[in-house]
Amino acid sequence: MQSFFADMADYVVENEPLARHTSYGVGGPARWLGRPRTIDELARLIRRCVREDIPAFTMGRGANLLVSDDGVDGMVIRLDAPAFTRVDWPAAAGAAMTGRSATVVAGAGADMFRLVTEAGRRGLAGIEGLAGIPGRLGGIVRMNAGGRWGQISDVVRALTVVNDLGDIRRLSPAEAGFGYRRSSLAGVVVCDVRIELTRDDPKAIRERFKSVWKSKASTQPMSVPSAGCVFKNPPGGSAGGLIDRAGLKGRTVGGARVSEMHANFIVTRPGATAADVFALIGQIRREVARQHGVELDLEIEVWGRRVVRTAEVVA
Ligand code: EPU
Repeated sequence: MQSFFADMADYVVENEPLARHTSYGVGGPARWLGRPRTIDELARLIRRCVREDIPAFTMGRGANLLVSDDGVDGMVIRLDAPAFTRVDWPAAAGAAMTGRSATVVAGAGADMFRLVTEAGRRGLAGIEGLAGIPGRLGGIVRMNAGGRWGQISDVVRALTVVNDLGDIRRLSPAEAGFGYRRSSLAGVVVCDVRIELTRDDPKAIRERFKSVWKSKASTQPMSVPSAGCVFKNPPGGSAGGLIDRAGLKGRTVGGARVSEMHANFIVTRPGATAADVFALIGQIRREVARQHGVELDLEIEVWGRRVVRTAEVVA
C-alpha cells in the first residue's frame, strides 16, 4: 500500500497516531500523514490521492477536531513546513499612517496566537478580537472561527487554495462561502490567506487583546484539553446556556466531561477515548432535545473510518 506514495517517503509516513496531533488528545491513526514542504509537493500529493481514489483530509492544529478511535482510512495532510507557516508583513509605518489599511499574506500553517500577537506588536489591528482562538490560520479560515469580537472572514480578502484536482487557484471571499462558523472550503486545501488589517497604536491593540483574553479566560476552560465549543449556537440562542440549564455541567463519560466552567466545552483527561467524547455528545444532544426541544448541531469537525454526519452521532 505504501507503494502509492513510495516516491514521497520524504514527506509521507504511514499509520501515524492522530491523538498526538489533536487538542482532545484522542483519535486513532491516519493511514497516511503527509507533510508536503512546498505547494508543488502538496499539489502532487492531492493529484496522487485523486488518481488512487484515496480520501484526503487537511488538519491544522487539530484544535476543533474529533477523530474516532479507529482513525482515518486516508491521507491526512498537515501544512506545518516553513513554506506554509511564513507570514509576509507590510513595511513598518509611522504614526501618520494610523487608520490606513495594510495587507498581510500569511500561510495556512501560521499559528493563530503568534499571528494575532505579532500583528498587534506591529501596530496592525483587526484580529486582536480573535485572541485566545487556538489553531492554524487555514483551519481558522475553513471554519470561519470567531466569536463576540469578530470572525476571521471580516478581514479575509483573498485565498490561495489547491483544489481537489491538484490545481492552484485564487479565491475571493465570496467564493469561500463564509457563514456562521462555516465556509465552502471543505473540498480544497487552503495554502495562504491575504488579510487586510488597519494601522493603529500597538498599545491600544494590546489593551483590546488583553480584555478579550481576560473575558475568555474567566468563562472558558482555556488551559484544559478541549476542542473549544462543541455545538453551534442555535439561531437566537446559546448552546452553552441550554446545556447548562439541562443540568449537564460535570456530566462525565470515561475520560470526557462537560466543563463546569462553560457547558459547551467537553474537556478530556489523559486516557480519554473518542468513544467517550462521542457518548457524551450523544447524551447532551438527547437531553437538550428532551428538555428544551432543540436539536444541537456540531461545531467541531468529526473524522472517522465511517463518515459520521452530525445527525448520526449517537451514544
Ligand atoms: N452560558 C451559560 N452557561 C454556560 C455557558 C454559557 O449559561 O456554561 C450562557 C451565558 O449566560 C452567556 C451565553 O450563554 O450569556 C453565551 O455564552 P458565551 O458568552 O460564553 O458565548 P458563547 O455563545 O457560548 C461564543 C462562541 C465561542 C466564543 C465566544 C466568545 C459559538 C458556538 N461559540 O460562545 O467560540 O469564544 O462566543 O466570543 O459560537 C468556539 O468556537 O470554539 C468558541 C468557544
